[in-house]
Formats: sequence, structure tokens, C-alpha cells
Amino acid sequence: MQKPAPSDYPVHELIRERWSPRAFADTPISQELLRSLFEAARWAPSSSNEQPWAYLVATKDDQDSFQKMLSVLVEFNVGWAKSAPVLALAIAKLSFARNNAPNRNAQYDTGAATALLSVEATAHGLAVHQMAGFDPEKARQVFGIPAAWEAIAALAIGYSGDPDSLPQPLKVRELAPRTRKPIAEFVMAGHWGHTAPFATK
Ligand SMILES: Cc1cc2nc3c(=O)[nH]c(=O)nc-3n(C[C@H](O)[C@H](O)[C@H](O)COP(=O)(O)O)c2cc1C
Repeated sequence: MQKPAPSDYPVHELIRERWSPRAFADTPISQELLRSLFEAARWAPSSSNEQPWAYLVATKDDQDSFQKMLSVLVEFNVGWAKSAPVLALAIAKLSFARNNAPNRNAQYDTGAATALLSVEATAHGLAVHQMAGFDPEKARQVFGIPAAWEAIAALAIGYSGDPDSLPQPLKVRELAPRTRKPIAEFVMAGHWGHTAPFATK
């Protein structure tokens, strides 16, 4: 299924086509494609080129790892994410390698890397559904994540599937229109709260 964004202004089709499904097809992702997804993340910009991200990846053919990944998700997310062929955690290093000083952009940079990964996935007909609904401390224990690192988001990656495979309430959400604030609400100029003139046209 596709669910293109009804954008107010023209955007690249990869931006329009990216969305977060909860129904996934029972189709594995090739290792070649997985390499391309993380290669896209690799080329994200980051503060001081620190590249403070890491990913723990569980493919469904490795059931031990896959079940461990499911065990850190909240119940609601397990309900649909278990159908995805790949689950992952995006993890950020919160201090700079060179001097251990706090890196206040680590989460931002990790989000940027994951955004590029998502766009690359879209280009291959894949979808990435990110999740805040997981337990970072359980993830630390289950996967042995070091203290300097923190799991930021979980990801379900796969080919979007049939909405009929979802329980009714999730099916309704899957088929609901996509909505966003207009740019005039969040693009300002001159002073906080003053909409940038170009954003009102
Ligand atoms: C950081 C982050 C956390 C999210 N957490 C969850 C989650 O725990 N469960 C879920 O079903 N969706 C989650 N989402 C998906 C959002 O609800 C979704 O991106 C948003 O509704 C916009 O839909 P779209 O991605 O299809 O444009 C999350 C998205 C992001 C970026």
C-alpha cells in the first residue's frame, strides 16, 4: 500500500512517498538492501563529524535476536511490529569520543541518520516505522549497550502490507488521512511567533 503525503507545496517524491505503516508484507529484505540502508545513514551530517550513531539490527531469520528485540518494545508496538522482517534500535553516543564532553547533538544526529535511512528505504519500496514505545533500560540489559550510549528509537523495516491483516482499530489508523501542521505554524522570522512572510503564500 502507498500513502503519499498530500503536501501543500511540491516536494520530492521520496518525501511524499515515505510513511509509517503498521502492516508489513511477509517478505524478507536482502542483505544487499540492508547494506544500502545503513550506508545512507552513514552519510548523514553530524556535529564535528562525530557520527554518534549505532544500530542494533534483528532480522526475522535470526529468531533469537528478533525475539530479544520484540521483548524491549511496548505491548502495543509488539502487536504490529512482529510482522516486520527487520527490527532495529537506533542508539546514540552521548559524549564526544575525543574528550568525553557531552554531545548535545547526539540524538539530533542519530535522528538525521535514521531520516536518511528512511528515505533510502523509500527509494527501494521499503518502509521504516520508528518507535518511541520501547524500554531503553531493558534494551541496555538485553543487548549489553554500554553506559555512554543510549537507545533513542526502535525501527520496524519492511515492505508495507495489507491493512486487512491488522486488527480493526489499527486498520482504521492505517487508512486514515495523513495530516500535518501548515508550514505557517512553525516557520518564523524576526521574532518568535512571527510567521515568515514566504510561509503564508
Ligand atoms: C521518534 C518517533 C517515535 C514514534 N513512536 C511510535 C510508536 O511507539 N508507535 C507507533 O505506532 N508509531 C510511532 N511513531 C510513528 C508516528 O506516529 C508517525 O511517524 C506519525 O504519525 C506520522 O506518520 P507518517 O510517518 O506515516 O508520516 C513514531 C515516530 C517517530 C519519528
